[in-house]
Amino acid sequence: MNDLLKLLDCSKDDIVSILDLADQLKYEKKHHIPHRHLDGKSIGLIFHKVSTRTRVSFEAGMYQLGGQPMFLSDRDLQTGRGEPVQDTARALSRYLDGIVIRTYEQKDVEILAKYSDIPVINGLTNFAHPCQVLADLMTVREHFAQLEDLKMCFIGDGFNMCNSLIVGCLKVGMEVSVATPEGYEPHPDVLAFAEQQKKLGAKFMLTHDVRQAAAGADVLFTDAWTAMGQEEQAEMRREIFQGFTVDHELLSCCKQGVMVQHCMPAYRGEEITAEVLEEHADEIFEECENRLHAQKAVMVTLMSDRDEYIY
Ligand code: CP
Repeated sequence: MNDLLKLLDCSKDDIVSILDLADQLKYEKKHHIPHRHLDGKSIGLIFHKVSTRTRVSFEAGMYQLGGQPMFLSDRDLQTGRGEPVQDTARALSRYLDGIVIRTYEQKDVEILAKYSDIPVINGLTNFAHPCQVLADLMTVREHFAQLEDLKMCFIGDGFNMCNSLIVGCLKVGMEVSVATPEGYEPHPDVLAFAEQQKKLGAKFMLTHDVRQAAAGADVLFTDAWTAMGQEEQAEMRREIFQGFTVDHELLSCCKQGVMVQHCMPAYRGEEITAEVLEEHADEIFEECENRLHAQKAVMVTLMSDRDEYIY
């Protein structure tokens, strides 16, 4: 693995190795065992959208690994004045050891990686959120001590989180069901991947019926109805997504003891009720914490000069 741009590029072994390393790094942090695997290295964080979890977990994670994070907003970079991604990539490659980018178009992340000599990590695009889904898989595996054969259900918009969850969960052998409103289905490339996996024996269902999707689920995921950059659609989306709220009634369709996950930020009363969120807060904030450990594992995997940290 040279970059983490989208989970479609990763093998099952790539994903499992990152999860194993993330577990190890979590153990080391909890037991105050030094793990300065990126001593002397620097990573640039290019953010074209706001962030709480991704930014802070990358910054804290890089410090814990002995390296230096450098936050680079549009206001700070010449990209804000129109410098092409290709030139930014080649310049930053001369100073840094890695780049995290959060932006709108997946193609900008792909171009950045093509022109960079250093690893590029996708910190969220409209197409994918691979770091979040690695943390999600880590959290589900901690909870159930397995991933294969569990049923993951996603309720909501077929946007970046849904795309990455479908790919990540199918790659590790989970069953996947998705319910979206009509017209809000996942990306065609992701549906093509899911169809291909079905031919190899995977279980995947896309429906517009939330109860059908949730039936027998071990883990129920949801996400905000309005993503960053869609704010002017918020009122329209509140209408369209009526009936797609994760509430007690929907949980009753799932397996008893269903785990609830939300990548956050959450909008109580829209995609999830306040009651369900608070009852499952331990699971959801463990998912939040695991962003730190999973991303540290990604940085070590991509940026360390030494193989011994790669499990
Ligand atoms: N889930 C997630 O990516 O959170 P932030 O937008 O706060 O980074």
